[in-house]
Amino acid sequence: MKVMVLGAGGQVGRALVRYCWPAGWQVIPFDRAGLDITQAESVRATVARERPDIVINAAAYTSVDRAESDREAAWAGNHTGPANLAAACRLTGIPLIQISTDYVFDGSKPGPYLEDDLVNPLGVYGASKEAGDQAVRKALSEHVILRTAWVYSAHGHNFVKTMLRLAGERPVLRVVADQIGSPTSATDLLGPSRRSRSASLPVSQPGELIILLGRAR
Ligand SMILES: NC(=O)c1ccc[n+]([C@@H]2O[C@H](COP(=O)([O-])OP(=O)(O)OC[C@H]3O[C@@H](n4cnc5c(N)ncnc54)[C@H](OP(=O)(O)O)[C@@H]3O)[C@@H](O)[C@H]2O)c1
Repeated sequence: MKVMVLGAGGQVGRALVRYCWPAGWQVIPFDRAGLDITQAESVRATVARERPDIVINAAAYTSVDRAESDREAAWAGNHTGPANLAAACRLTGIPLIQISTDYVFDGSKPGPYLEDDLVNPLGVYGASKEAGDQAVRKALSEHVILRTAWVYSAHGHNFVKTMLRLAGERPVLRVVADQIGSPTSATDLLGPSRRSRSASLPVSQPGELIILLGRAR
């Protein structure tokens, strides 16, 4: 089994590359320097050359605040990129896992969000990610869209690391109290005991997911 990981330099990408994959599985990591997902021809040629059994897209424009003034780059990374990947996967009959976000919702629901809830992104980041999800859905039937939130890991910037740093610097922490989220370990994202209703596939670990996707091919 060959697993192609995009965004391998990011929090989730690094965790995917380091994941304890079953023996004999090969992970092919691509960071931005290795493959820019906004470049359609490079994406098509690389997927065709590597012929992976599955593609996992953890590459994205993730600067939520900066996206408001950097609209073009956000849409390129979050809409054009996944659309290019989905088109390349369709040409070669390869399933795609697209990592997405809770920012596709407006946060007005009193309880936890479910997969089928209506999306209503409030900002450029959420709108561009939702457009990317839609492009994947439209281009490729063999896909899974995993919406996650509050991702943390040892790498990059995240809420957990910020809180740990501030706790070491200040006697009292002041934090916004009007947001509810579930901090999610990048390592656990595709790990055991996770369940997803996306594409009606029960998912408990990458192997099972890939086997299920493989069957759908
Ligand atoms: N972090 C969170 O709290 C969170 C929450 C919900 C959903 N997500 C989703 O989870 C996924 C992974 O996020 P993350 O936390 O791992 O973000 P991250 O640490 O910012 O990693 C994203 C990676 O994508 C790369 N990238 C950006 N544009 C690219 C392009 N055009 N071509 C190739 N690579 C590109 C970035 O490279 P550069 O460093 O060179 O820009 C970076 O290495 C994203 O889809 C994100 O929307 C994250």
